[in-house]
Amino acid sequence: MRILFASSEAYGLVKTGGLADVSASLPAALRRRRQDVRLVVPAYPEACRNLANASVRPGPEDAPWQIIEGQLPGTRLTVYLIDWPEYFQRAGNPYSASNGMDWPDNAQRFAGFARAIVALARDEAGLDWTPERVHLNDWQTGLVPLLLDPERTGVERPHTIFTIHNLAYQGLFPASTLNELNLPADLWHPEALEFHDQLSFMKAGLVFADVVTTVSPTYAQEIQKPASGMGLDGVLRARSADLHGILNGVDYRDWDPSRDRHIAVRYSADDLAGKAANKAALQTRLGLDVNPDIPLLGHVGRMVEQKGVDLLHAACTPLLEAGHIQLALVGSGQKDLEHATGALARAYPGRVGVHIGYDEPLAHQIEAGADLFLMPSRFEPCGLNQLYSLRYGTPPVVHATGGLADTVVDATPEYLDDGSATGFSFTPDSVSALGQALERALGLYTARADGRWEQLIRNGMNQDFGWTASADAYLALYRQQVPRRTRRAKAPSAL
Ligand code: ADP
Ligand code: GLC
Repeated sequence: MRILFASSEAYGLVKTGGLADVSASLPAALRRRRQDVRLVVPAYPEACRNLANASVRPGPEDAPWQIIEGQLPGTRLTVYLIDWPEYFQRAGNPYSASNGMDWPDNAQRFAGFARAIVALARDEAGLDWTPERVHLNDWQTGLVPLLLDPERTGVERPHTIFTIHNLAYQGLFPASTLNELNLPADLWHPEALEFHDQLSFMKAGLVFADVVTTVSPTYAQEIQKPASGMGLDGVLRARSADLHGILNGVDYRDWDPSRDRHIAVRYSADDLAGKAANKAALQTRLGLDVNPDIPLLGHVGRMVEQKGVDLLHAACTPLLEAGHIQLALVGSGQKDLEHATGALARAYPGRVGVHIGYDEPLAHQIEAGADLFLMPSRFEPCGLNQLYSLRYGTPPVVHATGGLADTVVDATPEYLDDGSATGFSFTPDSVSALGQALERALGLYTARADGRWEQLIRNGMNQDFGWTASADAYLALYRQQVPRRTRRAKAPSAL
């Protein structure tokens, strides 16, 4: 099947979070299933630098963009970069300038990206390739299902699959944007693009795609309820028959301690000896006291409200004060959380090691060198770090929400006995619940001479969260004939 996979980031080209991991590894997994899948991403400077075997192709006649065709580094996956210099050739990250402020023209930039995807979907860009499915990801691609809507365009088009990676980022813009983007006025109502007097790119995807998916079964349920629906639960309930939760997979070629290039010593479930050396290396790298016996707790992530770094600080402070733990953190994001994390490191020298910023090798070193991995996310659509930490023999401590609830089995006495436990989970998302989970985890760690700790580690390492099952689930969805939805009685205006 010919599948065009569209995303605003992909690991190997440009990455700010888990969306990039999935946008590289899912298409690669589909390709291994002999599907003709091709990836389309904006031509940011970093993506241009990283693309393998690049060559330039003209875009459609009169279009202000061209295509840079190449391959995802280290793979044979075809990539089309949309080279629209006015929108994408700038320093900073895909969504914001170096000062952390969103680019003021993000609506125009990603509407432009959407129009380019539409041109590729209709084979108007001279590629001589027409996809049968277009798989869109998150708000940056949300306008595509609308722009391809046959009820408006009057032309047949590939079926569209829209995946929600994170409902917290909706692509909301002022009402005047509708006009600026030349979108018809009849889309301005709550059943189309309007979201509380703002224009929502995410909603365009949710309303107009043939199929909607999200990245774990539990998150698929949660977002249909007011408490977690971020104001879109009604829209999602209306689409519940077409809404599927498919768990993300892990690319174990990048994330496995037996072949990881970034860590000090490689190890596996059969030979755990190297784990201690990775702990010492991490302690050294982050300026922690080198001590094999003190439990070292790790965290990697975007420093935003979602990830619960503030809960982590509060629950760990008494343990740090008592000299019971060490902390290793890497992350960047909100300035207040970055400052608070820096302050914690200054308050506990030798016990807290922090790197504020984005550092891929350090993320791997924390997965390998820590004894426990902390993920107290308030919500988590899927989460990849806990899956990595399972493979690295670093039991995760997670808030039982979204994908975290679907992937970590709590070390209750029962699950420890029957050998199914893989980590520690807690609820609600409070400092005291996290504190209690940490106490349980540290208790088991301290008593590790009884063998249960090592058993827990091995259980986690032997889990298989590779792409096999998930890529098959996506393929089954692609293959499913999706009946045309009848949404409106009134004929809509053409696009
Ligand atoms: P999210 O997509 O919400 O950020 P995930 O757990 O799905 O969360 O994925 C996060 C990905 O980004 C992981 O691959 C993680 O290692 C990586 N990551 C996040 N922050 C950093 C950082 N500061 N340095 C290196 N890698 C990071
Ligand atoms: C989002 C979510 C994260 C998920 C990732 C990839 O960024 O926050 O939970 O794992 O997308 O789907």
